[in-house]
Amino acid sequence: MDKTLKAKTRLNGICPYFTMFPLDFPYSILEEHGSRGEWVLDPFCGRGTTIYASRLLGMPSIGIDSSPVATAISEAKLVNIKPGHIVSTAIKILKNAEEPSDIPTGEFWELAFHKNVLNSLCKFRESFLRNCRSDSRKALRAIILGALHGPRPKSKQSYFSNQSQRTYAPKPNYAVNYWKRKGLLPEEVDVIEIIREKADRYFGLEKSQGMGKIIVGDSRNNKYFQKIQSQVNWVITSPPYYGMSSYIPDQWLRSWFLGDSSQVNYSSPEQLNHLSPDHFSSALKKVWENSSDICAQNATLVIRFGSINTRNVDALEIIKKSLCQTRWKIKNIKSAGFASQGRRQAIHINSKVSNPREEYDIWANLNC
Ligand SMILES: C[S@@+](CC[C@H](N)C(=O)[O-])C[C@H]1O[C@@H](n2cnc3c(N)ncnc32)[C@H](O)[C@@H]1O
Repeated sequence: MDKTLKAKTRLNGICPYFTMFPLDFPYSILEEHGSRGEWVLDPFCGRGTTIYASRLLGMPSIGIDSSPVATAISEAKLVNIKPGHIVSTAIKILKNAEEPSDIPTGEFWELAFHKNVLNSLCKFRESFLRNCRSDSRKALRAIILGALHGPRPKSKQSYFSNQSQRTYAPKPNYAVNYWKRKGLLPEEVDVIEIIREKADRYFGLEKSQGMGKIIVGDSRNNKYFQKIQSQVNWVITSPPYYGMSSYIPDQWLRSWFLGDSSQVNYSSPEQLNHLSPDHFSSALKKVWENSSDICAQNATLVIRFGSINTRNVDALEIIKKSLCQTRWKIKNIKSAGFASQGRRQAIHINSKVSNPREEYDIWANLNC
């Protein structure tokens, strides 16, 4: 992807999400081999990198993910909206909202957000829970998710929270101890100004048209695929690597904003479970079978997969087994390099990668 295009693809970064693959990965595949108008599916869409790459190339797409945070971010990759409209929606919501009925209390919440900022966040939260159907609301919700927590810069404030990481939500006890030790109190930031700056940044240069649909659901379950009417030509995806199972608790604060409880949620039955490599392969097999049910005859599946340092497994064995006795026939397996060479899944789990693992791109065709 050339530099000019990169400057115009800011929407992809609207909210951080760990373990995403680079935009170049789905984009270069679809640019070289796909055609405008062909449908693209990502059954583990995460923050919607495949969805956004498809949009840039005029290809409609469908994303499925069982994390509501992932799907809320992905939905914003499909909206068609001008920044001014997003800002006026935000102003209107705050102006018309009644006092929120549910404002979380306790030391974490007192130290995480200034009380007036928390009040505004709760007004947005309750308003979106009632209705988040329009493009302007979907875009605004993703902007707020992206600005919810992050570092306090020296000059202009870009996040609503006290000092935090951007990607992961702070765990309450750890964060409270840290803020107290450092004497950090939350600042009263200008919520509308932060939204205005981000709306301009992420939507100001966007020229492409979003087309498609995002579904919150467990991809092992065929019922979510039955909702899809279109015939899919491309499946480009990256499942969680075996052992990478903290998508829901690590995003607990964004999940709260989307309606979950105000405490860390450690239960995630709709996420793939990591009991054993065999169990994991069988779960993936269901996803590949469900995907093939809605594919055109000549469809192609491309999977990026690897392993994490804490689990000593053979990533290729897991994928080969998952594709065995499905309608997908493996055509090619390419190295995608080592986890230390880029912002790959293993990097996000262990900042010190002592033993970098190789990642693979597995190409398969539908065998009719
Ligand atoms: C590696 S991430 C995908 C990242 C994505 N490629 C991107 O660029 O943002 C894997 C995703 O699988 C999702 N996931 C895990 N189990 C799932 C399931 N059973 N059904 C649907 N999605 C699931 C996780 O929530 C996570 O978002």
